[in-house]
Amino acid sequence: MQQRLQGMVAVVTGGASGIGAASATRLGAEGATVVTVDVADGADRRLDVRDEEAIAALFADVVAEHSRVDIVVNAAGVAGGGPVHILDETEWDRVVDINLKGTFLVAKHAAIAMLPLKSGSIVNIASIEGLEGTEGGSSYNASKGGVVMLTKSIAIDYGRRGIRVNCICPGAIDTPMLRSIIDPDGMASYTERMREEHLLGRFGQASEVAAAVAFLASDDASFITGHALVVDGGFTAGLRVGLLDQMGI
Ligand SMILES: NC(=O)c1ccc[n+]([C@@H]2O[C@H](COP(=O)([O-])OP(=O)(O)OC[C@H]3O[C@@H](n4cnc5c(N)ncnc54)[C@H](O)[C@@H]3O)[C@@H](O)[C@H]2O)c1
Repeated sequence: MQQRLQGMVAVVTGGASGIGAASATRLGAEGATVVTVDVADGADRRLDVRDEEAIAALFADVVAEHSRVDIVVNAAGVAGGGPVHILDETEWDRVVDINLKGTFLVAKHAAIAMLPLKSGSIVNIASIEGLEGTEGGSSYNASKGGVVMLTKSIAIDYGRRGIRVNCICPGAIDTPMLRSIIDPDGMASYTERMREEHLLGRFGQASEVAAAVAFLASDDASFITGHALVVDGGFTAGLRVGLLDQMGI
């Protein structure tokens, strides 16, 4: 494994599971000191990304202990949505608050910690559902579209101060979140259709998103900021209707 992140300090939200956990593992394997936070058990610190006071305390503690924060990965998130005529306001607020406001609050305190260093990399986990509409997507798509645009805005504000800000738009990645959506009874044909829509014919692995996180966090991405990197096995590349199969090619 390359050691691109030696001496760097990283904070990863949603670090107890899925993409956040895989990112923490990858950043650590590349030499970073990693602090994971999550609302669930299994992270270094319990924290709700909607709680600004707790986020401010987290960054104060990390800076006190390690003198710096170089990398922040916003991977905490929840699934949700539904057609708007049956979507409760409280459910809308839950999804948008965790996915979008949580990203804002963590990015805010990350920037405060990074500004004195005049360097840093923030990587937000958005989604292809922040780039394209999807059936029943509503609050989730709105939150992720917001993350994509927030990423670009923050990148503009802090580029001259040495802080790079990018997001990753994953396709369907095999994590507990995806399994909670595709595993319930009666979802087999939906699951198969979803898998087929990825040109590579499979769902992604959390480690494949983590590899992109490590790249964007590292100096290998030193001239990349304000970018939304699609990691989706070709889902958004275009339509595959099976023409070549039919032609025997
Ligand atoms: N799995 C996919 O197919 C997929 C695709 C595109 C984008 N994403 C995004 O990737 C990110 C990670 O998702 P995942 O698939 O690894 O899901 P996951 O459920 O495995 O992990 C998400 C983690 O976020 C934590 N979390 C939820 N609410 C929180 C809060 N308020 N404060 C702190 N932590 C909180 C959860 O406890 C969990 O550990 C999410 O933002 C998700 O929207 C996932």
